[in-house]
Amino acid sequence: MAINKESITNQVYNMIKESIINQELELGQKINTREIAEKNGISIMPVRDALLKLVNQGYIINRPRVGFFVRSFSDEEMYEIVEVRKMYEFYSLENHFDNIDRVKLKDLYAYFEIDVKSPGDFFNIYDTQLHTIIVEASGNNFLIERYKKLIDYSSLLFSCLNNQRYKESNEEHIEIIESVISNRKDKAIKILRKHLEKVKIDKNLLNK
Ligand code: NI
Repeated sequence: MAINKESITNQVYNMIKESIINQELELGQKINTREIAEKNGISIMPVRDALLKLVNQGYIINRPRVGFFVRSFSDEEMYEIVEVRKMYEFYSLENHFDNIDRVKLKDLYAYFEIDVKSPGDFFNIYDTQLHTIIVEASGNNFLIERYKKLIDYSSLLFSCLNNQRYKESNEEHIEIIESVISNRKDKAIKILRKHLEKVKIDKNLLNK
């Protein structure tokens, strides 16, 4: 039945995405389609469907006749992603500061207080949400859609490279939230700048 097949595909999709974010699958690593199918007692078809969905979203690369690989990024690509993120985020913070959804931020704040279980959780859920809330303040749907795609790459990438930094990063997020809630725009901009600059420094980890 179509509904069941769809749900198996979704489960496999979530499983593979989590494995990438939690680094069980490394950047550039080949994905063993047959092994995933056998391990989970399912056919190759839903695994392929899940992988194709991930290809579509840019997490995975499909090399015809060679196989599926976790997407890897060059130094230049990482630099470019961060630069574009800055354009979106500073634009939104500077021009639409008053529109930032304080209610959503307060909800998120409560979550930040709880111990985050893994770097994967952190980047996949909290980090992405906070930065997206800032960009959503722009009210520009075209911009928001593009940003969401970008932050998806970005969280994948940072969870793989920055997992030592996530506690420090978390403190910066809390500072950003507090600055917005207390309407201190200049402080919020300053901390966001510091926060995104550090991403650049951490790209050195790629060369190790
Ligand atoms: Ni962040």
